[in-house]
Amino acid sequence: MSKRLSIAIDGPAGAGKTTIAREVSRILGYKYVDTGAMYRAVAWRSVQEGIPLADKSAIVALTGDMCIDFVEGDGSRIFVDGEDVSKAIRTPEVTKLSSPVSAISGVRRLLVDQQRRLAGEGGVVMEGRDIGSVVLPNAEVKIFLTASVDERAQRRFTEMQSSGMDADLERLKLDIQERDHRDSTRSDSPLTKAPGGVEIDTDHLSIEQVVGRVVELAQEYGT
Ligand code: DC
Repeated sequence: MSKRLSIAIDGPAGAGKTTIAREVSRILGYKYVDTGAMYRAVAWRSVQEGIPLADKSAIVALTGDMCIDFVEGDGSRIFVDGEDVSKAIRTPEVTKLSSPVSAISGVRRLLVDQQRRLAGEGGVVMEGRDIGSVVLPNAEVKIFLTASVDERAQRRFTEMQSSGMDADLERLKLDIQERDHRDSTRSDSPLTKAPGGVEIDTDHLSIEQVVGRVVELAQEYGT
């Protein structure tokens, strides 16, 4: 009988986690969970409510009151209290704010609980920064995706342009460097390769090659 594995995909911004995680989940027939979208949703809601970043306890309270749902189908959409915020959480303002918001321990505690519930008994591909290290330390497959800053900025640039958003390549590079620094130096659950994780540098690999490697690793567990 095939097993329902947990697959953790971590790595810095723009390393290709979303594309890879979605495709792997499609091939294996697993659920896909984008945990970054949850931190973005909290950042989005705090802007909506006019709560300043300095008011950490208000942001934690707001996180506790939010009902976050994912609806799978054509891509994965995220709803906050019934409102589709899939687009709203991708603006540069929310993107920038999501990093300091994700450094608030109270926010992390609440979202990690939800993420573990979403992962259920397995049959999940979950992407983020701390999935293999904190959220699902028992995941059978742990992937750490990387790519150079230049490559990641170029990918985001193309992505934004194709969805009709204004983009400035140099600005994107600086933003990525700043987010990398914040995400990997924060005290609570910094971005790190989990013990037992497999690092894949995606700079010179096609999407198919990376997906193939992850599926291969999963198959070693008999999925
Ligand atoms: O993957 P993303 O760019 O959508 O993530 C948005 C922010 O949330 C990013 O700055 C890192 C943070 N994040 C995190 O701290 N832990 C996760 N599991 C996922 C994202």
